[in-house]
Amino acid sequence: QSIINTGKPYSFRQIISKSTRICKCFSKRKFSDISRRFLSFDEVVAQRRAEAKRSLVVQVNSEASFNELYGYCSKYASVNGIHHYKNSGDEHFMLIEFKTEEESKKVIHSCSSHQKDVDVMALHSPFLWFRAVSGKKEAFQIPKSQLMTTKGCNSIDEDNLIEELANCEDVSEQIQQMHDRTALNDLGVRLRYMVARQIERIFESLYANIVVRPFGSSVNGFGKMGCDLDLVLTNILNEEMCDSSKRLVYQEKKCEGGRSPWQRHMELVGELLELRVPGATRVQRILHARVPIVKYAHEFTDVDCDLCYNNMSGVYMSELLWLYGSLDPRVRPLTFVVRRWAQTVGLTNQHPGRWITNFPLTLMVLFFLQQKGKDGCVLPSLKTLVQYAGKEDVRLAEENLNCTFLRDMNKLPTDTYGQNKANLETLLLQFFEFYAQFDFHDKAISINEGVAIRKPNTLPLYIVNPLEQALNVSRNVSYEECERLKLEVRNAAWLLDAGLDGKKTDGWGILGLIERKSTRGLKNLLKVGNSHRLVSVKDLFNNDDDKIEKVNAKRNSE
Ligand code: CTP
Ligand code: MG
Repeated sequence: QSIINTGKPYSFRQIISKSTRICKCFSKRKFSDISRRFLSFDEVVAQRRAEAKRSLVVQVNSEASFNELYGYCSKYASVNGIHHYKNSGDEHFMLIEFKTEEESKKVIHSCSSHQKDVDVMALHSPFLWFRAVSGKKEAFQIPKSQLMTTKGCNSIDEDNLIEELANCEDVSEQIQQMHDRTALNDLGVRLRYMVARQIERIFESLYANIVVRPFGSSVNGFGKMGCDLDLVLTNILNEEMCDSSKRLVYQEKKCEGGRSPWQRHMELVGELLELRVPGATRVQRILHARVPIVKYAHEFTDVDCDLCYNNMSGVYMSELLWLYGSLDPRVRPLTFVVRRWAQTVGLTNQHPGRWITNFPLTLMVLFFLQQKGKDGCVLPSLKTLVQYAGKEDVRLAEENLNCTFLRDMNKLPTDTYGQNKANLETLLLQFFEFYAQFDFHDKAISINEGVAIRKPNTLPLYIVNPLEQALNVSRNVSYEECERLKLEVRNAAWLLDAGLDGKKTDGWGILGLIERKSTRGLKNLLKVGNSHRLVSVKDLFNNDDDKIEKVNAKRNSE
């Protein structure tokens, strides 16, 4: 077309040469589009951060304020979308996303402060409230495409979830449904990025180049509704900021005194959260830990936050888990049900202690999916991801920790993963059977290798830290807790296997694992006459039945 439009007399050879070049360009783009199945973590994070910069959260009287708020804001800026939610205090909020960051800034600068209250110091933050006015309200015509999303971000009612799961066709559908109904939704993610953006904005004037990044379950694809928010604050100087050819250099303040500078800065962060960050309450400083943390609750969004400094390895770890979760659609649902089962049987607990937590449990699921059974594996080992890493994947975290692995999953050869096509039901049963037979005494779990390795010490549970292989992420787990883990995976294998006879009795499928304590499920199954199946899996238990009953009875009585 461009050749014709120029109107110049082209020779036949010129036409062929130009057309070939155009065709090559076109086909190259087309093919690369088709082969790009996976987004990278950095792309997703950049998109979420940009979205947060374009957004504001406004407290309103009720859902009915939508029309008025929409009309008021669209005087200043064009609105992309509005999401409504209620927090646990029954207060109504609307998250408004504008078309551009500039427009959201325009709205922020058009806001007013509190009435002249001597106790309140003015502050610009993306959390606002909408003042009610008396008299006749203006009516606005809202375009159909701008309807408010009212899904909210509260956890699904437990009874409804159980009922939905009971009505599923099969166990695989139950597992998928549990994931779909309990995973952190879009609004949950948006709000978490808003909480990060709020402190980034407030601290920007104190620290140059400050970035506050969410990590952990809020962004690694394994977060459920209501999950905590892990935040990391970094203040990394980029090359341009350290350019020695520039003659004017900032006068900067050196942190003096014996303690680590960031312990002191985190102390200040704690003070600022208390004094300057609207919505931040219950601030707790845990500054003597290896990674100093400031904990706080964000009451506008109902999110509990753990803020630490410079922990980029935590961010890269979240990226790694996110990449594994995005490689195969079975990874996240399977991990969800395992996390939920562990919570139900009391293996995990929201308080820190001598028990396993969700992070190592997730590594256990990934490790299981790396096993090459007769059908091949679901996931590749981390060694494989490191092998395919390029220059663009090199990352060094704090203390020069090498966090290099392939980031663009489109470059991963398809014969390195995904050969195993088993459904979720089969994978879940195999997960429990795998760990029921795992040699916890001598072996360590390593997603780097994808196969069990010899334990370097006698700690009861050894799960290699994928980014710092000399460390054990489950070093806190006591002998008793590890024994309980072994017992519970056997219980679960037994329960699930016994329930796979197609009969949808009370607690069928995963319900027996997630609804109540295992022993009750076991008793139910015994009642409905599955004893022939129990015998068939008895060899799994090495005659531990009495022990299982005793321990469970003790725990139930507790
Ligand atoms: N992390 C890590 N090394 C550890 C423990 C944690 O790198 N030994 C990182 C992981 O990226 C993890 C994140 O810190 O995801 C947050 O840890 P935690 O809050 O314990 O786990 P979550 O994955 O966020 O799970 P939960 O929903 O239970 O908070
Ligand atoms: Mg967390």
